[in-house]
Amino acid sequence: MNVDGKQYRTIWMKENDRRVVQIIDQRHLPFDFVIEDLSTVDDVARAIKEMHVRGAGLIGATAGYGMYLAALDAPQASEEAFLAALKADGEKLKSTRPTAVNLEWAVTRQLDAILTTVGDFEAKVQASFITAQEIANEDAEFCRRIGQHGLTIIEDTSQKKGGATVNILTHCNAGWLAFVDHGTATAPIYAAHDKGISVHVWVDETRPRNQGARLTAWELGQHGVPHTVIVDNVGGHLMQHGQVDLVITGTDRTLYTGDVANKIGTYLKALSAKDNGVPFYVALPSSTFDWRMRDGVSEIPIEQRDAREVRTMRGLHNGNTLEISLTPPDTPAANYAFDVTPARLITGLITERGICEASEECVLALYPEKRTGTQPQNCP
Ligand code: MRU
Repeated sequence: MNVDGKQYRTIWMKENDRRVVQIIDQRHLPFDFVIEDLSTVDDVARAIKEMHVRGAGLIGATAGYGMYLAALDAPQASEEAFLAALKADGEKLKSTRPTAVNLEWAVTRQLDAILTTVGDFEAKVQASFITAQEIANEDAEFCRRIGQHGLTIIEDTSQKKGGATVNILTHCNAGWLAFVDHGTATAPIYAAHDKGISVHVWVDETRPRNQGARLTAWELGQHGVPHTVIVDNVGGHLMQHGQVDLVITGTDRTLYTGDVANKIGTYLKALSAKDNGVPFYVALPSSTFDWRMRDGVSEIPIEQRDAREVRTMRGLHNGNTLEISLTPPDTPAANYAFDVTPARLITGLITERGICEASEECVLALYPEKRTGTQPQNCP
């Protein structure tokens, strides 16, 4: 994506240095554009935990590079010592954020690649490097395809409206900043805008960390997509008054039964959409699928973050960023970071392989290699 006319991804290897990974430190956006160097697996774990990088796809890609940095530093006294260190580093990375399943997926993919590489330590490190690059490239390419599939939904809506502006509501940031490039919820929007279809995005601010107000508004602005930031409680009102044609969100964990976990507040948007007959789509690459869990509400681990994020807010004042208090000091505050939207509230899943109903039958029809043999096969 372009930032002030220059092409960026959210993560890349430093030029001419195979020991340093570079990221955009998203804590500083939209006020400052800061690039950070990550040189060790501990740097990577901190960057994920403290949300220098965030968003399911980017968390996965960063973990992929983290495992490569771990392989570079792993002791080479013996094969056992090398693998034990990598497994411990994988556990360290997995413990940083519990809800986004891409993290575990990327660590497992790296360990498989390293374990199955026949050869010396150099060969294993090289396999890990290639795997990290593959995870990142695949993420960008899958998001591009999601854009092409999701574009058809926006095109249809535009046609039904006789070319009038299509109003799309999104929550949090499932944009290119949450992935390696393009984003998921935003990819169809960018594709439609680039094709000359008139679109306008309602951007939920997304308390407490304001990913919508800070990040989605920034990246839509960089791409020239018309948008309006709203506080989190406005969506229902807009839907009641016909001002939302579609909702498109991302997801941090998608069960093969169709339930999704996404940023806190997504469930309420889905309820409003259902009540008002507004189509509610969730966009995701297959790295976000969890193929083991069946029931989102009872099974998906929901991250709880520091209460300070609720009690305070960061912003710009006279050119300097500062943190202000919103509540009486030390007021008890709960900070649930995600909620679960049940499949019954979702109109469809937009994946890199196409759009499907949010149901076990239809997800497995798109991903037949994940069948275990006993599941129903009657996707309409
Ligand atoms: O806490 P974050 O900023 O990592 O949460 C991100 C979201 O919830 C996004 O909506 C989600 O990742 C979907 S897009 C990957």
